[in-house]
Amino acid sequence: MTGIYPAATQLERHRQQFPALANKAYFNFGGQGTLPQASLEAIQQAYTYIQHNGPFSVGVNAWIMEEGNKTRQAIASEFGAPVETITLTEDVTVGCNIPMWGIDWQAGDHILLTDCEHPGVVATAQEIARRFKVEVSTCPIMETLNEGNPTEVIAQHLQPRTRLVILSHLLWNTGQVLPVTEIVEVCRNYSASTQLIRVLVDAAQSAGSLPLNLTELGADFYAFTGHKWLCGPEGIGGLYVRPDALESISPTFSGWRGIVIDEVGKPVGWKPDARRFEVATSAYPLYAGLREAIATHQQWGTPQERYEQICKRSEYLWQRLSELDNVRTLATSPPKAGLVSFVLTNGHSHKQLVNSLEQQGFMLRTILDPDCVRACVHYFTQPAEIDQLIEAIRLEARD
Ligand SMILES: Cc1ncc(COP(=O)(O)O)c(C=O)c1O
Repeated sequence: MTGIYPAATQLERHRQQFPALANKAYFNFGGQGTLPQASLEAIQQAYTYIQHNGPFSVGVNAWIMEEGNKTRQAIASEFGAPVETITLTEDVTVGCNIPMWGIDWQAGDHILLTDCEHPGVVATAQEIARRFKVEVSTCPIMETLNEGNPTEVIAQHLQPRTRLVILSHLLWNTGQVLPVTEIVEVCRNYSASTQLIRVLVDAAQSAGSLPLNLTELGADFYAFTGHKWLCGPEGIGGLYVRPDALESISPTFSGWRGIVIDEVGKPVGWKPDARRFEVATSAYPLYAGLREAIATHQQWGTPQERYEQICKRSEYLWQRLSELDNVRTLATSPPKAGLVSFVLTNGHSHKQLVNSLEQQGFMLRTILDPDCVRACVHYFTQPAEIDQLIEAIRLEARD
């Protein structure tokens, strides 16, 4: 972050590494991040390397193994976790599915979800309920955005048969950050008199935006993706599995990457760590793309520094939105991360607003529940972009 250039120039130079930022004002990092040029090049080089040296050969196979190791290592050190806790997946949803299907469900067991979880995860829970006669219930977290205590809400909804609590660290719809460590503690204390309750965190919005130390956070499972706030390519994500939770789930999809074989090639067991949940052939060149994206952020600052900058930018956006006529931010105090959700109070359509902004070069999205518009800011979002967005919304929101 420091150097011979003043901060504004330095940020502008940093932004030039992201081709997507050249021709638009981008506020959709929660949907997909902007890939750095270095990632694109690393992906291309990796594909070229494979073709040049294989594609299938002893050399390329060894290189692929090393790519996996380096990628798990880069993720582990960014998230404050031991490398053996990291499974590489394709995306958040696969990472959630691993523990969700991996528990040996018994009829009558209970899954607790919050009312702010992503439909893909909700659908998985519903299918588990149907197949195994498990009960799924939802607790009202959305209403705690401005007052109330999400930990207490979760505590009130635990049941003697609860085996899994599923929640997002940073809610994708309202932008609220949930106190995961506190919630895990409540689940552990409740579990003391019943069976152990595991906590699965959907980290779609938190990985790459909140500073993380997964060992200290305490969650059993933390499912993330590289393609949102980390700005990596789509198609690579992962799952953190707390060491003492490893044996509590079994691989459901399984394959050669997750097993140990004997000298005649027969499977003799699972890999001893979280790699047991990896399955088979993947788009390996994406791994280098994700590592480059992480390295690009690290050039700018630590996760803590990036988070502080995200909060400064989101507070600015929140403040300026709050001053507009016919606009109401969902949060009544500055957001604790980069998601800022708001509504039009004069009945104008959110969909039309987002479409019209997009025509003008501002990328945002609508959310259905609650019905609102979501703008995401990253640490490299420029205040000038926010000013331009505010002016465009002001004009659109006029009566
Ligand atoms: C909270 C949340 N969970 C899950 C997902 C799905 O992510 P993926 O496509 O990486 O599985 C999203 C994507 O928007 C999300 O916001």
